[in-house]
Amino acid sequence: MKDKVTIHTLKRLKQAAQKICMVTAYDATFARLLDEAGADVMLVGDSLGMVVQGHDSTLPVTMEQMIYHCTAVTRGAKRAHVVGDMPFMSYQTSVEGAVRNAGRLVAEGGVGSVKLEGGAEFADTVAAITRASIPVMGHLGLTPQSVHKMGGYVVQGKDEQTARKILQDALALERAGIYALVLEGVPVELARQITQRLSIPTIGIGAGVECDGQVLVCYDLLGMNPDFKPKFVKRYADLHGTITGAATAFFNEVRAGSFPDEDHSFHSKTLRLVASNAHPEQEPAEGGEKIGPIYGVPV
Ligand code: KIV
Repeated sequence: MKDKVTIHTLKRLKQAAQKICMVTAYDATFARLLDEAGADVMLVGDSLGMVVQGHDSTLPVTMEQMIYHCTAVTRGAKRAHVVGDMPFMSYQTSVEGAVRNAGRLVAEGGVGSVKLEGGAEFADTVAAITRASIPVMGHLGLTPQSVHKMGGYVVQGKDEQTARKILQDALALERAGIYALVLEGVPVELARQITQRLSIPTIGIGAGVECDGQVLVCYDLLGMNPDFKPKFVKRYADLHGTITGAATAFFNEVRAGSFPDEDHSFHSKTLRLVASNAHPEQEPAEGGEKIGPIYGVPV
């Protein structure tokens, strides 16, 4: 395994003008695949409220759910630095509550840092979490937890005044101690300025190519949902087609009675009669046939 990515690796990548690759992950299998593919950073995003749970916003996601998904992802990711998103209302009500919840994502979820949305108004919160030795990633621009305040998922910072506010927020968060900043849904020109002004890396999503790195939701880049195609998403695969095609082939074979065939069945040379009171969970006899890996996971 290559060396584990840390927040210091990310700073060095910015200094060396090497792009940072970040992607979301929500379970161990995807984490393992994305890690093998070379992700530097894996974000257990509260976007799971939408792509995993089927809500129309990230707002219903709870701390318990975030911890559950963080534990799964940290089991799968060997090299990537794993970031846990702080869900809605886990850091907005008090600084003390924010530190406690950030601590839970690290201690119980196993992540290496946390991410929270918001600007200068959260500088104290960022400083307090950082003081507790938990690195914090910031998130500015289109911040999905503020969907009602923004009036929808709309590009932010398009005029001079709002762009200046986002730039000031970025500088305030850097002073407060964030180690990296996600810029979501902002004009390329603003993302360029912020990236040049900060010494920490910026990671863009819908923020143009001049950020120090890029992030996409894994389900989006893999083409899992043909009905969701915003301008900033590029699909690198058609997993919707691949998955529905494979499942349809399975269902067709089941209906035709051609699955399972001999290659996928077990036999017994000695069996004559299955006793009606045989225990279904009986251990295989000594030297019995072992099934081996189950459910796609090596055991
Ligand atoms: O929740 C999430 O997945 C995110 C990324 C899209 C940046 O915040």
